[in-house]
Parts: sequence; structure tokens; C-alpha cells
Amino acid sequence: MKFIIAYIKPFKLEPVRDALQEAGIEGMTVSEVRGFGRQKGQPVFYRGAEYNTTFVPKIKLEIAVADDQAHGVVEIIANVARTDSIGDGKIFVLDLESALRIRTGDTDHDAL
Ligand SMILES: Nc1ncnc2c1ncn2[C@@H]1O[C@H](COP(=O)(O)OP(=O)(O)OP(=O)(O)O)[C@@H](O)[C@H]1O
Ligand SMILES: [Mg+2]
Repeated sequence: MKFIIAYIKPFKLEPVRDALQEAGIEGMTVSEVRGFGRQKGQPVFYRGAEYNTTFVPKIKLEIAVADDQAHGVVEIIANVARTDSIGDGKIFVLDLESALRIRTGDTDHDAL
């Protein structure tokens, strides 16, 4: 199993969610986060002082999937979230050791 963490632009949340649901993904977690990449969130001036790093609002998606679904999920997120401008985001894929559906006791693939 893989655990996919994606940081995307907030206005891309709905189209990404819709595309993932269409592809059969049955669960995900969404958080409102703030972050920066290599542009350091673009320098800003505040009360006369320049702050070199600001945090920009992003959406964080967390999705646990079977190994053979991971590539497709990454492709969908990347294709739908891409605007070709800076700050489009990043996708990280981690190995996932175990999963448990609390209500039923289903484990691993049965719990996804
Ligand atoms: N190395 C990182 N670790 C964790 N989160 C990151 C990392 N890099 C980027 N992020 C998250 O992804 C968001 C978007 O990053 P962003 O797309 O600006 O990356 P970038 O490397 O600057 O690429 P680009 O040049 O296309 O802007 C950041 O605001 C942050 O939340
Ligand atoms: Mg950037």
C-alpha cells in the first residue's frame, strides 16, 4: 500500500476530488494548510519591512491506496492540479505499512 500526500492550490480541490472519485477512490482526507516552495511564498512588504518568506494557503490531500493504484492517482492529481504557473504544488508517495477500519476490524487492503 502507498500513502499519497499532495499539496495543491485551493481552487483545484473540487476538480481533483471529482476526478479521484470518478477513478474509484473511496476515501481521502483534506486539510487547509500553509506552506512555501522554492519561491519562498513570494517576498512581501509589511509595515515597511520585507519578509522574505510567507506562507501561502494550500490544500493538503492524504490518500491511502493499493500499490497498483498509486501511479494512477498521482497522474490524476498532477494533471488536474496543473496550471503551469508557480505554486502548483507537490506530490509525495510513502510506503504504507498497515491500515485498519476501526468499526469492522478490516485490515490493510480490506480497510482502504
Ligand atoms: N520540500 C517540501 N516539503 C514539504 N512541502 C512542500 C515542499 N515543497 C513544497 N511544499 C508544499 O507545496 C506547496 C507548493 O509548492 P510549490 O509548488 O510552490 O513548489 P516549488 O518547488 O516552489 O515549485 P514551483 O517552482 O512550481 O512553484 C508549498 O506551499 C508547500 O505547502
Ligand atoms: Mg513555488
